[in-house]
Amino acid sequence: MAGRNQELLEKRNQHVPQGPFNTTTAFVKEARGAVMVDVDGRELIDFAGGIGVNNVGHCHPKVVAAIQDQAGKCIHSCFHVAMYEAYVDLAQRLNELAPGDFAKMTMFANSGAEAVENAVKVARYATKRPAVICFENAFHGRTLLGMTLTSKVKPYKFGFGPFAPEIYRIPYAYCYRCPFGLEYPSCNAACADHLEDFFVNHVAAEQTAAVIAEPIQGEGGFITPPPEYFPKLKAICEKYGIVLIIDEVQSGAGRTGKFFAIDHWQVVPDVITLAKSFAGGMPLSAVIGRAEMMNTAHVGGLGGTYSGNPVSCRAALAVLEILFADKLIDQSVKLGETLLERFNAMQAKYEIIGDVRGKGPMLAMELVEDRESKKPASDKAKALVSRCFEKGLVLLSCGNFGNVIRTLMPLVITDEQLEKGLSILEESLAEISDS
Ligand SMILES: Cc1ncc(COP(=O)(O)O)c(C=O)c1O
Repeated sequence: MAGRNQELLEKRNQHVPQGPFNTTTAFVKEARGAVMVDVDGRELIDFAGGIGVNNVGHCHPKVVAAIQDQAGKCIHSCFHVAMYEAYVDLAQRLNELAPGDFAKMTMFANSGAEAVENAVKVARYATKRPAVICFENAFHGRTLLGMTLTSKVKPYKFGFGPFAPEIYRIPYAYCYRCPFGLEYPSCNAACADHLEDFFVNHVAAEQTAAVIAEPIQGEGGFITPPPEYFPKLKAICEKYGIVLIIDEVQSGAGRTGKFFAIDHWQVVPDVITLAKSFAGGMPLSAVIGRAEMMNTAHVGGLGGTYSGNPVSCRAALAVLEILFADKLIDQSVKLGETLLERFNAMQAKYEIIGDVRGKGPMLAMELVEDRESKKPASDKAKALVSRCFEKGLVLLSCGNFGNVIRTLMPLVITDEQLEKGLSILEESLAEISDS
C-alpha cells in the first residue's frame, strides 16, 4: 500500500489508539450505493455496509436531502428542552411497524448499545426484578452493560471487568454446533426448554426481568434458530411474566427480507431494539415496546442530550420512506435468494464451507478445516477477507472463532456489482482452499 491511504494510516497510528479497530486499511473519500472510493481513488465493492448500516445504500439522495434540510433548520435543540416533530413522527411510524396488536411507545438513543441499556432499564423498572438472561454468542455492544451481555471474551470483555451484576447466560440455538449435542429436528428445540431448567439451577423466574436475544446472532456468527425456537422462548417468558427483548440492531430495517427479523418466527416481542440501518448512517437507535411497559419509568429516568437528534430522526424517516416506496424489502428477498443459491453452489464445490445459514441477505458461510471435525478455519477466514480486500471487495467475518463470513451489503446493490463481488469472493475462496 502506498499513497494517501498509507500517509493517513501512519497518522492514524500515531494519534488514535489501537482499541477502535479497523477491518481494512482503506480511508474513504466518498461512497454511493454499494461502492466506496478510497482516498487513492480505488473502488471498493461494499459487502459490509458499514457493519449493517447501509441497507438503503451509501448517501441515498433522499437521505442526504433530509439531512441537509434539517441541518439548515435546527441541528440540535435537545428533545428534553424543545421538542420537534420528527421525533414524534418517527416514534409513531415505528409503533405502527412493530409487530403486536397492542399500543406501543418508542424512545430514541444514539447507538445500539444504548438502546440495549434502555431496554433493560425499562424491563427492570416495569417488572421490579433484577436479573437479565442473555445467550452464548450474543453481541449487544461495548458499554458496561452491553459488553456484560456480550458473550465473546476477546476482544470485547478481556481486561474490562468487573462486569454488571445480575446477568446470566444460557446456550443459544446453534444447530451447526449444538451445545446440547443434539440434532435438529429430533431435538424438538430442547435448547429453548433449557430456560425452564435454568430457573431451577441458576436464577429464579420471579427474579428475572428480561430475556434478551438477537433473532439472528450478528457478531456471534449469523446463528439462525429453527422455527420452533422463538415461539417456545416467548411462551416461557409469558408464563413467568418475563419481558422478551428482541435485539434487532443488526437484523432489522429490512436486512432479512422482512422489516423485523423476528417476524420470520411470527413471535411478538415485548420490546425491540433497533439501530444501524434504520437511520441510514446517522447515529440513532430506538427502543420500541408495549406502551404500558415503556411508560412506567418516571419522568427524567430515560433520555440523553443527543438522544433522538432531529437530523438523525429526519434521516430515519427518509430511510423508512425509501424502504417501502422503493420496495427494498422485496429487493431484500430477491437478493437473499440469489446469495443463497450462490453460497449453496460454493458449498457444494468447496469443502471449507461447513455451513450456510441466515435469512434473506443476512447470510453467512461458516468455514471449517474439515467437515468431520468442524474445526473452525479462523486463519483461512482471515486470509479470505484480506484477499477479497486486495481484489476490491470489502467483506466482514464474524463468529466467536472469527471463521464466519457474512454479507451485509446495501440492498440497492446492482446486479453487476453483486456479480463482481461474488466473483471476487469465489476466486478468493478457491485460493484459500488450495493454500
Ligand atoms: C445485535 C447488536 N446489538 C447491539 C449492537 C451495538 O450497537 P452499537 O455498536 O451501535 O452500540 C450491535 C452492533 O453490532 C449489534 O449487532
